[in-house]
Amino acid sequence: MSNEIELIKDPGLPAHVHRQADIDPVAAARAERQVAILFMLSALGTLLLIFSYFFISEETFIFIPVLGQTNAHQLGLGMGMAIALFCIGAGLIHWAKTLMPDEEVVAQRHEFRSEDEDRSDFVKTVKEGAASAGLGRRPLIKRTLGAALGLSALSPLILLRDLGPLPGDELSKTSWKAGTRLVTDPGDRPLRPEDLEVGAVAQTLPELPAGEDHRSLADIGKDAVLLIRLRPEEFNLDAERLSWTHEGIIAFSKICSHMGCAVALYEQQTKHLLCPCHQSTFDVTRAAKVIFGPAARPLPQLAITVDADGYLVAQAPFNEPVGPSFWERSS
Ligand code: FES
Repeated sequence: MSNEIELIKDPGLPAHVHRQADIDPVAAARAERQVAILFMLSALGTLLLIFSYFFISEETFIFIPVLGQTNAHQLGLGMGMAIALFCIGAGLIHWAKTLMPDEEVVAQRHEFRSEDEDRSDFVKTVKEGAASAGLGRRPLIKRTLGAALGLSALSPLILLRDLGPLPGDELSKTSWKAGTRLVTDPGDRPLRPEDLEVGAVAQTLPELPAGEDHRSLADIGKDAVLLIRLRPEEFNLDAERLSWTHEGIIAFSKICSHMGCAVALYEQQTKHLLCPCHQSTFDVTRAAKVIFGPAARPLPQLAITVDADGYLVAQAPFNEPVGPSFWERSS
């Protein structure tokens, strides 16, 4: 038996096969046009999305075989975005496969941190690669890619519009005005003081203005007020806050001043209101002063009285924003 060890020679990389576009200028020009067409299709896809968004009504339906009656607005949005994204991706892949440098490179393993010389060589190679990618030499691709990328960036900006208008200072205003009646929720029945027994609590809303027959969910959230009836002597309020109550009935915004949850629990024994989210606790006898939890300020108090017909009404709007404290800071 022979002691000789037969060394197997590393076969190395297979011979490089040139692509058609590497050796044939006509094929290269054709590939360039194909890439440009894909980028232009991408731009058209974005234009279709924009057109559908602004000019096709959401109520427009068209019949499409297989799909049946289809909402043209949504179809245009979906098709436009799909075409824009697909074609820009396909164009980049086609460009890389047909026109970008195509050379096999062997790199030896080395220490994690390269020599300074290697690092500067790398930077040089990247720059040369960027130059050889041909952007400078292929203005058609450069222009169509710029148009496709620029337009595709518009799509998310346009769709942001669907998040609705900016709230401005809307969050800091409620529907309560001087003379607005307090009505039951649900039921919209105007309340009189005698509707609440001592110890009772009720959720109320402002009466709808004449001619309006519904309120938005946002308004319900902002306007909800808790009415609580104590014995007048149980209050520990200054003269002004006491004048905002009526015969032992006191009114607070129902939105927690911490992060806006509904303050939904009332402990009749302790006369505390509790927020279920993070356990902020408000003392009703002391104008909803915070006695526990993360809330930074009391629940806003609504000044109430009765009108000439004996119904409970607001004396004035809230004198501070309702809800989380950051609304107040931003106003
Ligand atoms: S939202 Fe009420 S305690 Fe946090």
